[in-house]
Amino acid sequence: MCYNNIGDNMKQRMDEIIEILNKANYEYYVLDNPTLTDQEYDRYMQELTQIEQMHPELKRSDSPTSRVGNEVVSEFKKVTHEIPMLSLGNVFNESEIIAFDDRIKKEVKNPNYVCELKIDGLSVSLIYEKGKFVRAATRGDGVTGEDITHNVKTIKNVPLTLPEDIDIEVRGEIYMSKEVFEALNENRKAENKPIFANPRNAAAGSVRQLDSKIAASRNLETFIYHLPDAKKYGINTHYEALMFMKKLGFNVNPNIEIVKNISELLQYIEKWTSKRSSLPYEIDGIVIKLNDLSMQEKLGFTSRTPRWATAYKFPAEKVLTKLKDIKLSVGRTGQVTPNAILEPVRVMGSIVSKATLHNEDYIYSKDIRIGDVVSIIKAGDVIPRVEEAIIERRTGKEQKFVMDTNCPICKMPLTKKDAFYYCLNEKCDARSIEKLIHFASRDAMNIDGMGEQIIEDFYNMGYLSKYSDFYKLENYKIELMQLEGFGEKSITNLLDSIENTKKNSLDRLLFGLGIRHVGKKTAKILSQHFSNIDLLIKATYEQLIEIEDIGDIIAKSLIDYFSDEKNLNQIEQLKKLGLNMNSKIEEINNNENFINKTFVLTGTLENITREKASELIEQNGGIVTSSVSKKTDVVIVGANPGSKYDKAKQLNITIWEEQEFLNKI
Ligand code: IVH
Repeated sequence: MCYNNIGDNMKQRMDEIIEILNKANYEYYVLDNPTLTDQEYDRYMQELTQIEQMHPELKRSDSPTSRVGNEVVSEFKKVTHEIPMLSLGNVFNESEIIAFDDRIKKEVKNPNYVCELKIDGLSVSLIYEKGKFVRAATRGDGVTGEDITHNVKTIKNVPLTLPEDIDIEVRGEIYMSKEVFEALNENRKAENKPIFANPRNAAAGSVRQLDSKIAASRNLETFIYHLPDAKKYGINTHYEALMFMKKLGFNVNPNIEIVKNISELLQYIEKWTSKRSSLPYEIDGIVIKLNDLSMQEKLGFTSRTPRWATAYKFPAEKVLTKLKDIKLSVGRTGQVTPNAILEPVRVMGSIVSKATLHNEDYIYSKDIRIGDVVSIIKAGDVIPRVEEAIIERRTGKEQKFVMDTNCPICKMPLTKKDAFYYCLNEKCDARSIEKLIHFASRDAMNIDGMGEQIIEDFYNMGYLSKYSDFYKLENYKIELMQLEGFGEKSITNLLDSIENTKKNSLDRLLFGLGIRHVGKKTAKILSQHFSNIDLLIKATYEQLIEIEDIGDIIAKSLIDYFSDEKNLNQIEQLKKLGLNMNSKIEEINNNENFINKTFVLTGTLENITREKASELIEQNGGIVTSSVSKKTDVVIVGANPGSKYDKAKQLNITIWEEQEFLNKI
């Protein structure tokens, strides 16, 4: 082909090819009904690529050539959702479904619902301007998500151009089919890479990549199920919205049904509960949506979820497998847990080869024996547990479990307290490793890239034994770079992320130290109360229990911890290494409406979540507590407030409504 013609001709040809390819794409990936042969498709692609190479200035942003993943971004930009991306409330059984229907019926006569499959992936917002795809974003916290446009462009059933020049936002789910997931994990196993636990994690991991080549190679798909501003297009029901989006070329799930009463609704649920495993993708429930959009509007939203829709979640799946062995593990507090070593099985989309057995009483009371066929249960993201032994499947070769009363790691005798055994040896390797893992974990110091295996390896190699050792790793940079599986880049990144954690807020450090009974929330309360760690160390038992939400047990534990010379030395070392020991109080905005005042939140806030509200109060110098007392300065009241509101009125405490609070922020 000869391209000496002037740009205009070239542009025309380009438009022509893009139209042919987009149509072919839609027919192939959405309608599942290809009209172009693979060779024809490839020839058009080649021609288009050639024109684009010769005339980069003519390249269209919606060109199908961008599907191959040739974009790399340096960061995920934040995106604010104009209409918040809400989640759904959950129902778990028939009576909760009936209660949902009853609530709707209070406002709507003879409601019709649209039933849909609840796709197990991650939600996405797609924005089109004048019919061209311009942006895709994750849900994030519902208000702010992350820009993943470069990756979503590679998803073949996301149209890059719509048949109409409209501005529109649609929402749906990005997912990975079961088949693609299996093949991906097979490849990863062969390459010695860690496998993904389930298709949802694999899909989420793929869109959270800076280099779009990775997403392009993962064959992700979408189902589109929500049109936030449907009325703008003259649409009156959710079903019409789905049909409208389908007509625009989006992939709408075909298994949608309008149901007119509760019995039809229950039938739909029953049908898909039994057909679930035959679907080529994972679903984790059924979504029930009121069909009439005016009625949806009338019912509105709570702070987090629409009142006009809900998700029926399938019950936790139970599967049978063989209990091969029971092995003890030691946590950072020294608590010893018996774990089931299982014949690997797939439970709710993930492969399970280990499950908890809690403690010896659990094993004995259920008469679980090594060699038994057992049922495993996994609810959501909770650690799987062994539910029961299947007695009928016994062969007689099963063995009763006998609890070892010595630590499996350091061999010291264990001490029993209530139902649990503890290893009280402070120098026990297992406990030391678990403490280090906790210190580096996401809710504590959040050392990016410092996974459990690396910590264990570094511990065994002698690089890590105390918290302060994390900050001394830089002294061994050259040695570390030579370790198998590491290179200069990964060690530099790791050291950088360790360095960054020196600036962490005090509450992260307090949580990371692993003081007994000091969880995330308590660490926050303490760091709000004391402007630096030295003041906390000096605090007396009486001063500590004065603090709201700090009781006898926590206060005693803190006094114990800080009277141990070893712990004080550890903190001193961390201080010398440059870790922040001050609370945020000094960095906050000195907003006179908030500074040093105590706040209580009650009722449902319409515009922000409670968590966000608490964060804002703290950032502005206030303190958030959970119950109203004479010490409370302000009570912030949302919709349907509880008894805290009455108490505030009784005690004559200043009351702010949500809007007043937001204005003051
Ligand atoms: S509707 C306001 N429909 O489930 C309407 N969500 O647990 C919001 N999901 O965040 C969502 N399939 O990620 C809707 N057919 C479906 C869905 C669906 C999967 C996901 C979505 C949502 C989550 C809520």
